Amino acid sequence: MSKKTILITGGAGFIGSHVVRRMVQHYPDYTIVNLDSLTYAGNLENLKDVEKKSNYVFEKGDIVDAKFIDQIFEKYSIDQVIHLAAESHVDRSIHNPRLAVETNIMGTINLLTSARNSWKDNFEGKRFYHVSTDEVYGSLGAEGFFVEETPYDPRSPYSASKAGSDHLVRAFFHTFNLPIVISNCSNNYGSHQFPEKLIPLFINNIKNEKPLPVYGDGKYTRDWLWVEDHASAIDTIFHKGKNGETYNIGGNNEWKNIDLIHLLCDQMDEALDRSTHFSRGLITYVKDRPGHDRRYAIDASKLKNELNWEPSVTFQEGLKNTIDWYLKNEDWLNNVTSGSYQSYYKKQYS
Ligand code: NAD
Ligand code: TYD
Repeated sequence: MSKKTILITGGAGFIGSHVVRRMVQHYPDYTIVNLDSLTYAGNLENLKDVEKKSNYVFEKGDIVDAKFIDQIFEKYSIDQVIHLAAESHVDRSIHNPRLAVETNIMGTINLLTSARNSWKDNFEGKRFYHVSTDEVYGSLGAEGFFVEETPYDPRSPYSASKAGSDHLVRAFFHTFNLPIVISNCSNNYGSHQFPEKLIPLFINNIKNEKPLPVYGDGKYTRDWLWVEDHASAIDTIFHKGKNGETYNIGGNNEWKNIDLIHLLCDQMDEALDRSTHFSRGLITYVKDRPGHDRRYAIDASKLKNELNWEPSVTFQEGLKNTIDWYLKNEDWLNNVTSGSYQSYYKKQYS
């Protein structure tokens, strides 16, 4: 295994922390530089178990600050990048579209520019991996799947800003030959996810016997993937993917929100020793999200056929593992839900 220095952005966040942990533990010859500005979603507690490893460094900083990014490339002689830092929540992007654009588009152009300048058109051993979402493809009806060739049709400020960043990454490949690779993944769930997204928000509310706010008719559909499987797919694509290519990542695991919520309620009732269907009583239908995409579903056959990757756990197993983690890590949950979380919650749900 060759020695190299890899810049991972957003490594203190949900998916990023799983990617950092995996890379630090599986590849002792790589130096992992985790760059994160520690927004509400970034938490160094997520990486307690690897922070003392000799092949791990943390840098606090903002990807929107072009000078700072240049300095990071110079300071560490970065060989390769895995770019995850983003404003990642649709509802927050509806409250503040400009922040999504600044972070997701300006942050990405800064990283692309610094990579190109630092690598000086000598791209041997270099790679820029951009982590993106299936939401760039828009919304599906009852039938069909997103494939890599599906035309982009983003419909929220979040997905539009991610689409913009994907286009820029591809433009740097076509215009400057920058060796890029992109993946577009479906909804993730698992440990260390900030409790603003459906599954951890509902776990926390069930635990505290608070209402479960279901948007609209609850029949919106998502394809769910366990975060550690996403990290393993990123590892596979990072090492084996072809330059200039896009790979869809999915769990082949579609759920209507209300069916998933029933399953979650029932697994929580079991874990908490509550009476059957106790938590289903907390379900409360609320006003729909504006522009709410009806259905996402990924065709991940390219990744399976070309790079031999498949998810490793069933949804039932992954969900049980996730519930166990949140119930065992009360302090983590209490820490991240104190302070500014309360005002976000009021704004979004009152
Ligand atoms: P997250 O919100 O949990 O974490 C984002 C991280 O980026 C945080 O640590 C935050 O501090 C950091 N960050 C934000 N703005 C920054 C800035 N300006 N400079 C430096 N760091 C900054 O997000 P996540 O769910 O882990 O998503 C990670 C990536 O994966 C994103 O690019 C997202 O679009 C993509 N993705 C997420 C999902 C999902 O279901 N969560 C699915 C597909 C793709
Ligand atoms: P979310 O976890 O925000 O992911 P995304 O919007 O990126 O798919 O939401 C998943 C689904 O759950 C989506 O259809 C919106 C719905 N949802 C609710 O019904 N209530 C909630 O409080 C949240 C956060 C989401």
